[in-house]
Amino acid sequence: MRAHLRLLAILLFPLLSACGERSLPTPPQSSPSAPVAGASPTGLDTLTYFDTHCASCHGPYGDYYNRPFAAATDDDALARIVREMTAGPGQSPLEGEALAALTAFHRALAADEPFLVITSYASGTLRGEVSPGSSVFVLIDDAPVPATVDGHTWSLILCDQDDRSAWIVTAERAGKTTRITHDPGFSHPGPDPTMSHDGK
Ligand code: HEC
Repeated sequence: MRAHLRLLAILLFPLLSACGERSLPTPPQSSPSAPVAGASPTGLDTLTYFDTHCASCHGPYGDYYNRPFAAATDDDALARIVREMTAGPGQSPLEGEALAALTAFHRALAADEPFLVITSYASGTLRGEVSPGSSVFVLIDDAPVPATVDGHTWSLILCDQDDRSAWIVTAERAGKTTRITHDPGFSHPGPDPTMSHDGK
């Protein structure tokens, strides 16, 4: 117990000196994110969307998909299937970045890596989604600061002086690490599904 406390003190000390707020646990908020300074790159909470529109047939986070998933499906074909599924059985068509992020989630499944996305930055709190069972860290000035993970969402209170363009977020699960920056703000990006790739 005492060893735990000492470890905690060692872990917290540099955080306290860097930013007083940061050592406070981040309370998960159920209210939808208010006006967003650094808006969600996708305009959609990808995993929440999957849960609502896809999981009834494909299981929580795609657990019922065949494994290995999409082994023989290239990026374009996967983007096409996901797009058709959002418009068809999903009954909630997606376009643009929202579609790109949902497709990226499927690429993460194919790679068996944690999917990671930033969903909002409001009131000093950075929020996102992550494949459940992952730990999330935000690298600030090269120091990994642990985010609070609750189900498939994560959040971290940032200091005023933190440079938004310098955020690097990582997720770790079962020895696999995913790393993203604020641009594009989600992991496993691929070809833009709204663009034609053969020049036509
Ligand atoms: C009403 C049930 C249903 C819903 C809801 C549904 N799908 Fe499907 N999906 C299917 C069926 C049936 C197939 C075809 C299975 C097959 O042939 O392998 C399929 C196939 C797929 C595949 C290819 C699977 C593979 O193993 O290659 C993907 C990817 C997919 N769906 C994504 C989605 C996404 C994303 C959503 C939500 C927008 C969604 N689906 C919603 C029934 C559904």
